[in-house]
Amino acid sequence: MKRVGKEQTIAKLRSRYVKITDVKILGIETSCDETAAAVVEDGRRLLSNVVQSQIDIHSAFGGVVPEVAARSHLEVILPVVDEAVKGVGGWNEIDAIAVATMPGLVGSLLIGSLTARTLALIKNKPLYPVHHVEAHVYANFIIDGKPCSPLPNDLPSVRDFCLSSQEKSLSPRRNCVQPQEDILATNESDQNLVSTPSGMTDKEDSLNLFLNPLHENASMETPERQSLRPQDMEMSHRADRLTYYGMRKNGLGNPPQFPMLALIVSGGHSQIVLFHDHGDYQMIGQTADDAVGEAFDKVAKILGLPYPGGPSIARAAKTGDPLAYTFPKAKMSNRYDFSFSGLKTAVLRTVQSEVGHDHTFPSTGLPELLDESQRHNFAASFQRTAVETLVDKIVAAYAEFQPKSVVIAGGVAANQELRRELAERLPIPITYPTPELCTDNAAMIASLGYFMAQKVPPGDPLNTEVNPSISMTLAAWNLS
Ligand code: KG4
Ligand code: ZN
Repeated sequence: MKRVGKEQTIAKLRSRYVKITDVKILGIETSCDETAAAVVEDGRRLLSNVVQSQIDIHSAFGGVVPEVAARSHLEVILPVVDEAVKGVGGWNEIDAIAVATMPGLVGSLLIGSLTARTLALIKNKPLYPVHHVEAHVYANFIIDGKPCSPLPNDLPSVRDFCLSSQEKSLSPRRNCVQPQEDILATNESDQNLVSTPSGMTDKEDSLNLFLNPLHENASMETPERQSLRPQDMEMSHRADRLTYYGMRKNGLGNPPQFPMLALIVSGGHSQIVLFHDHGDYQMIGQTADDAVGEAFDKVAKILGLPYPGGPSIARAAKTGDPLAYTFPKAKMSNRYDFSFSGLKTAVLRTVQSEVGHDHTFPSTGLPELLDESQRHNFAASFQRTAVETLVDKIVAAYAEFQPKSVVIAGGVAANQELRRELAERLPIPITYPTPELCTDNAAMIASLGYFMAQKVPPGDPLNTEVNPSISMTLAAWNLS
């Protein structure tokens, strides 16, 4: 086989990417507790969208358990990607791959990143590593989509996916894939693979290390690897965790215009970013401590409402009195910055005193002492304060920067009160994604990948790192 150097491989991938219209990008997202893959055309048109949520696994723990999240991603990532690609007619339709490589849980990011890197090499597609938080904003650019048929609810687990029905134990990958149908099936580009002493190609080698914990070359048999036995996989696989949806071609409006003011509010981030153009942005404000989604989740726990806290609080607040309790709003030296940990503590102290205890009373004992109407009043009062805090800042930022559009993004952007109050207090309409594109998904990753591909070269699939904590501004586009 012909040996191709790393530089030549990268040059080849870069030179392949010339189209700017009819570009279909496969997005892959695994940064937290959703395993997702989607195909988006020209950054705007949603063609297929698959999300496997782990919420029911983590809700038992009241929050995301990183090790469990990583393992659950590993179980379903290949079937999820396969389903998204099949939804557009197969790999020949895919022009490039975008993947969230930052920020997030490191073990979770690694699963998506390794999958994307491997597929980019095997399928000979350019690879765009993208920033998850920035990608949330790009859910607002998805304004069109084809109706998608519902996904069959018998999505195979990775084990089913990789093993033939006769084979009930893990074996090297090359013995167990379906040669024609498998998403990892080789194509013409594989002629350029490098042969290794084991007789396998470099790509096969890395695939085996990634996919097959028992591969003979995989010398690092850690406890985590040992525990990935078929029976575990079978037990933890639940097809009903899967949701699949498509957007109808019903004109959700035009894409946002620049300059664009973005409020990004999720479980890990709260920030206000002013976008002058794609890839050209400045951070106007950010949280000094907890993200607003995190505050929703923590307050829900104090009140005994189920995880995730955002939707639970929103539901409970519907029948609560938003003026029943008054909580302070943090004053920050930069008027666009936030702080939500004080609000969470204020709720905790007020609940403790409401049920007749002092600040030493454990928060875990509080839910059973609250009656339904107190619970709903606390939820409504907390939500009002959190929403007002966000809206006050956006209204002030709008007045100062006079953007042409205002968008909201991230899980908390699904909050109806936030949308209602912003719409009421801003002089221009706000843009927000459909609820399923507010929370983590891969369509937003694919959309950002498209706009990035217009301005920056693809990444190196052999050398793409994950970064669990880098901010959007530090991960700025390489606009050389
Ligand atoms: O964007 P996302 O899915 O994941 C992160 O990147 O963090 O956001 C999840 C966050 C959670 O904190 C969840 O409680 C919050 O979004 N959330 C909401 C609502 N739906 C989800 N917060 C307030 N109201 C909602 N309706
Ligand atoms: Zn997110």
